[in-house]
Amino acid sequence: MPRENRQILLRRRPDGLVRPDDTELVTVPAPVPADGEALVRVTYLGLDAAARTWLDDQPGYLPPVQLGEVVRAAGIGEVVESRCDAYAVGDVVTMLAGFSEYTIVRDDVFCTPVTGMDVIDHPAVLSVYGPTGATAYFGMTGVGKPQAGETVVVSAAAGATGSIAGQIAKIAGARVIGIAGGPEKCRVVVEEFGFDACIDYRGGDLDAALKAHCPRGVDVYFDNVGGTVLNSVLGRLAANARVVLCGVISSYLTGDHPGPSNYVNLLAKTATMQGFNALNEWEHFDDAFAALRGWDADGLLVHRETVYEGIESCVDALNGIFTGANIGKMMVKLAEPTRSGA
Ligand SMILES: NC(=O)c1ccc[n+]([C@@H]2O[C@H](COP(=O)([O-])OP(=O)(O)OC[C@H]3O[C@@H](n4cnc5c(N)ncnc54)[C@H](OP(=O)(O)O)[C@@H]3O)[C@@H](O)[C@H]2O)c1
Repeated sequence: MPRENRQILLRRRPDGLVRPDDTELVTVPAPVPADGEALVRVTYLGLDAAARTWLDDQPGYLPPVQLGEVVRAAGIGEVVESRCDAYAVGDVVTMLAGFSEYTIVRDDVFCTPVTGMDVIDHPAVLSVYGPTGATAYFGMTGVGKPQAGETVVVSAAAGATGSIAGQIAKIAGARVIGIAGGPEKCRVVVEEFGFDACIDYRGGDLDAALKAHCPRGVDVYFDNVGGTVLNSVLGRLAANARVVLCGVISSYLTGDHPGPSNYVNLLAKTATMQGFNALNEWEHFDDAFAALRGWDADGLLVHRETVYEGIESCVDALNGIFTGANIGKMMVKLAEPTRSGA
């Protein structure tokens, strides 16, 4: 009896948020692995802003998803059939699953066995011990380099990357101010993620709030959003500040990247603004995970997830990271893990 596999295909390129007719949920037989392949039952999908950019007909670090193809997304799951030396039945792996309940993997860079955990917490692998945690780690430690006593500002501070990045700056001894949308997110950023304060950027004058919270200026800005928030923080830089360009989620839906007029402050404050791509640090991910696990074991790291249920909710979850529906990592649970031991 072949396994039934539900997946979501791209039918039309979205304009803004993904609308119902842009995708189609189909039921097909699960693929049968060929020689050198394994079949994975996906347990959780992690939603990244990049997944929306892959639906545009624009070149990026991965090719665009073509019409009729499965919508691409990162995931974690369990090997249920293997014709591949690299993976055995029962292995837990992370991969580019796509919006699909089953997926085929090969022994390549897109599939990584999860090792080094006594108990495998599938959501935690997607939210902190995977590319999201590595992004926060390399962006903050490698580019931001916060020092004890410095003032660090993090945007999308209640989100997956921002919440971890801010905690890493706290561990370095910095004073950390978050920026997030709404009073509930700001409460979580301070009370659960341990930031010193959090500014609701939707709730009033961001320039005035930055002045009040950062009287000596901003030494490190970890930017997840770009746009007007980036411009405001650029206007508040301290001398020799470091601006970490992690992401520009404010413009992914429109593709319009308005220039920040306050960039002239980089000159006045002899500051630097540097982009980075965590995937370039792929070979060093284990160093990041070792540091993150150590902080977790010491009780210094809190991670949260926003979990939607079932493949039918994938599009809502993807849209949700653009409407601010998530605290911590946005993910969709597709199946109960049967294996949690390493
Ligand atoms: N450089 C890299 O290697 C790398 C790797 C992974 C991700 N990233 C980037 O990191 C950023 C965060 O990604 P994530 O996966 O961790 O997402 P996330 O922060 O968990 O979720 C996105 C959050 O962005 C905020 N947001 C959405 N639209 C916004 C807008 N127009 N203006 C201001 N804030 C907005 C929302 O929070 P509020 O409710 O607070 O607005 C939302 O919850 C993204 O820009 C992503 O592209 C970069």
